[in-house]
Amino acid sequence: MSDSNASSLPHLPSSQAQAQASGAWSPQQKSSETRLIIYRSDVMTQLMKMIERVAPSQANVLVLGESGTGKELLARALHEKSARKSKPFVAINCGALRETLLESELFGHEKGSFTGAYSRKIGLAEAANGGTLFLDEIGELPLSIQAKLLRFIQEGEIFRVGGKESIKVDIRLVCATNRELDQEVVRGAFREDLFYRINTIVVSAPPLRRRKEDIPILVTHFLNSGSPTFLNRGKTIDEEAMAVLTKYEWPGNIRELQNVCERLQILSEGHMIMVNDLPDSIRNPETKDEGTEFDPSVPLYELEKRYILKALGHYGGNKTQAAQGLGITIKTLYNKLHEYGEFEKYAVHSKPAKD
Ligand SMILES: Nc1ncnc2c1ncn2[C@@H]1O[C@H](COP(=O)(O)OP(=O)(O)OP(=O)(O)O)[C@@H](O)[C@H]1O
Ligand SMILES: [Mg+2]
Repeated sequence: MSDSNASSLPHLPSSQAQAQASGAWSPQQKSSETRLIIYRSDVMTQLMKMIERVAPSQANVLVLGESGTGKELLARALHEKSARKSKPFVAINCGALRETLLESELFGHEKGSFTGAYSRKIGLAEAANGGTLFLDEIGELPLSIQAKLLRFIQEGEIFRVGGKESIKVDIRLVCATNRELDQEVVRGAFREDLFYRINTIVVSAPPLRRRKEDIPILVTHFLNSGSPTFLNRGKTIDEEAMAVLTKYEWPGNIRELQNVCERLQILSEGHMIMVNDLPDSIRNPETKDEGTEFDPSVPLYELEKRYILKALGHYGGNKTQAAQGLGITIKTLYNKLHEYGEFEKYAVHSKPAKD
């Protein structure tokens, strides 16, 4: 795909036009929002062909990719292109909940099985019966729950916490991680037998910097997104500004691009977005704010908090990635967020069943 081809795309008038001009595929959504998968690069075209082939099978799929590369979107596509599409797609983030809570969220619990279990609760695995269970950040799954998940995959049955009877559940499992799961196996943090059960098929979402041909069409798409009545919808972008966006490396991938586009939609003046409207960090990515000057008004604690929240912003709110980037464990990150009173804002990502 040549550059000149890519730079002619910003002028496409609507998302429908984009859909025709590129590969674009829309999972059926019950909500009014339609999630298009926008792409035109060869690497994504190949990937979507693979999704088409894999989706109708029963195989468990492991989706790999850096933060913000569209792993969840691909998981939904696998569901929507399967015979299970009329049944629920249920997602849970394995990194967001503490061990005991995660187990009861996943498998449910019986009334009185622990303090606070006032009534029976159906877990997400059961709620997904007939459909797809998406286990996001599977690398964060504690070993005790890995054992239970393995048993479930082998037997097709679950036990609610405190439950004596097994319950048959038929689900297709799609897992995602931005970790090197094979390394986790070597480290002993992830069970090898479970690893081989969940990775029958591996789908790798490439980082945005490896498919820059997709950037212009994504920018146009995001600038046209949002409520149709939103006045700032449908802004166009100057060619030079588009070139700057295309040159940038996008460490937070599509999520970062989407955030930037949303900000441009709201904050830029006029109908045409110019280079000057772009955030400094994107226009001058080399100039990093070192923050090393000593400032007596800023205690170390405050500096640490700012740095941690900055890292979360950088990785589009992804805790695993932020913890890795900061060189701390995810547990430490959660503890810090608790201290700052920011836990609720960043930690909860458990999605209810859709039916
Ligand atoms: N090809 C695409 N076309 C349009 N939107 C996309 C595409 N890929 C990703 N997005 C959007 O980018 C955002 C991030 O995607 P998604 O949540 O699927 O990524 P992820 O890999 O699961 O990220 P994380 O690792 O942070 O959980 C979502 O809002 C998604 O709708
Ligand atoms: Mg995700």
